[in-house]
Amino acid sequence: MHIIAPSLLAADFSILKEEIEMVNASEADWLHLDIMDGRYVPNISFGFPVLDQVKKYSKKPMDVHLMIIEPEKYLERFAKVGANLISVHYEACTHLHRTIYQIKELGCKAGIALNPHTPVSHLTDIIGDIDLVCLMSVNPGFGGQKFIENTYRKIGALVEISGHVNPGLLIEIDGGVDQHNARKLIDCGANVLVAGSSVFSNENPIEAIKRLKHC
Ligand code: DX5
Ligand code: ZN
Repeated sequence: MHIIAPSLLAADFSILKEEIEMVNASEADWLHLDIMDGRYVPNISFGFPVLDQVKKYSKKPMDVHLMIIEPEKYLERFAKVGANLISVHYEACTHLHRTIYQIKELGCKAGIALNPHTPVSHLTDIIGDIDLVCLMSVNPGFGGQKFIENTYRKIGALVEISGHVNPGLLIEIDGGVDQHNARKLIDCGANVLVAGSSVFSNENPIEAIKRLKHC
């Protein structure tokens, strides 16, 4: 069964505790946390003080998506605030292999996120070392953007290069995921769906999560 990871970026931060409790009460498997530095992406989201509070109330594993340059400088702190899985961007890491092993040594699962323009073939030599690939289906930086259709083809290409080396690889899709494209993404080979606005902007977010889970 595929994994659903609501993205907290789309939550109402004035009632953050209630939003986290909603996710706790839902069929969501993980909680997706978008960290943006205003350098790697043209937006700034939230940092450690917010994550401390998230950790306090969330009962779901924390899936931390780092959209920051030099992520290696902060990995220890993300592990300390409770990250279960940390994804770094391929485009932001000069020594990606080293960074991946730093994440693993901290006891977290390790993921690599790819921008829409980055081909999955760039991961051929590291695919056996990672737990997850996060395919960005929008340009990172903002919630509520339109899904990029080329993602379906990319999932197929990723399944092809990972099949033999890492059959248990988690393939996460992030951006513009909703109840209309969820089934097709799963059929193509995705097994983790991130959803921000389609969950938190829904008047019944628990139901929206359920629909994605049983799409
Ligand atoms: C975009 C973030 C996404 C975002 C998804 O940079 O990585 O996780 O929150 O939001 P939606 O589902 O609204 O596209
Ligand atoms: Zn994300």
